[in-house]
Amino acid sequence: MSPIANLQTVTLGPDGLVVPALGVGTWAWGDSLFWDYGKAYSDSDLHAAFAAALDAGLTLFDTAEIYGFGQSEKLIGRFMQQRPQQVTQNAVVATKYFPLPWRFSKQSVADALSASLDRLQVASVALYQVHWPLDFLLSQKDLMLALGAEVKRGRIGAVGVSNYSAQQMRDAHRSLAEQGVPLAANQVQYSLLNRKPETNGIIATARELGVTILAYSPLAQGLLTGKYTPESNLKPAGARWLDPRFSQGGLTKLMPVIQALQEIGERRERTPAQVALNWLVCQGNVLPIPGAKNARQAAQNAGALGWELSSDEKARLSQLTQAYC
Ligand SMILES: NC(=O)c1ccc[n+]([C@@H]2O[C@H](COP(=O)([O-])OP(=O)(O)OC[C@H]3O[C@@H](n4cnc5c(N)ncnc54)[C@H](OP(=O)(O)O)[C@@H]3O)[C@@H](O)[C@H]2O)c1
Repeated sequence: MSPIANLQTVTLGPDGLVVPALGVGTWAWGDSLFWDYGKAYSDSDLHAAFAAALDAGLTLFDTAEIYGFGQSEKLIGRFMQQRPQQVTQNAVVATKYFPLPWRFSKQSVADALSASLDRLQVASVALYQVHWPLDFLLSQKDLMLALGAEVKRGRIGAVGVSNYSAQQMRDAHRSLAEQGVPLAANQVQYSLLNRKPETNGIIATARELGVTILAYSPLAQGLLTGKYTPESNLKPAGARWLDPRFSQGGLTKLMPVIQALQEIGERRERTPAQVALNWLVCQGNVLPIPGAKNARQAAQNAGALGWELSSDEKARLSQLTQAYC
């Protein structure tokens, strides 16, 4: 696949790195607990997804130390080694630190980052995010001090947080600003089926502070692709069957949204997933990171960039999904 033309970009925080306005989520890469890695898809599918994403111009890969207990980072590291250097030098890795209860010193942040860099086989990552706003013995203030130190040390391009409320984002922003380091990103769940960030102050605060929103589960874990319908009898792989939205009743309730995505998509020769992702990109300052398990999904998701829904189409989708605000 050739690179998508005119793809939209965002910066990771104020004056930060410019990246395509869509990334690749890699929670499923190596995760057999939730996603059925090794049964529903294999390493060669994931390698093909990695290659297809880069070929299409998607360069940002979002991972975490806990995804597959390090396996996601290891796979990305291996895939980067296996591609020609002139291709992978554009790859931008965003990984995450998990504030586990026994990580009580600033040194534990440095150690966790060292382990991630080893698995990824790189000297630095573009974005290092705190996975959840958990406070045990290491305070948020000390955590931000440890992260700021890593920026100065050159092992982190930028600091991000994830699942932080508007107030928690403000506090992190202030602690970092005291060290002259910007808060680059807050990664939160955001999609047409979860629009809470628009009403709980996260989007507005992020805009005010110059923080970029990374939208996770932007396809509502596959629901917005339109392939799961009450008639399709398609069972989602992994633990998703526990989510009532994948039940017969749940899918029936979603049909008006799926039908609108299909109608808009048909007129524009786009898939429902591309329409749903484009709606997020159109919000501005938002970088969706859809998960992709194979080359077809990665290439298709990349096709959410390079074009824009009309104001009427955006308004129709926003109105239809008002209940998810
Ligand atoms: N910070 C956090 O706490 C947090 C939490 C969750 C996720 N995340 C990040 O966000 C990323 C994305 O979220 P997510 O994986 O939960 O959900 P998602 O991106 O909404 O959905 C991903 C799933 O949808 C299906 N899919 C994707 N593209 C498709 C396409 N073009 N056509 C058909 N099916 C397609 C695939 O599953 P099937 O083919 O099996 O249906 C895929 O695994 C994660 O990988 C991770 O990097 C972060």
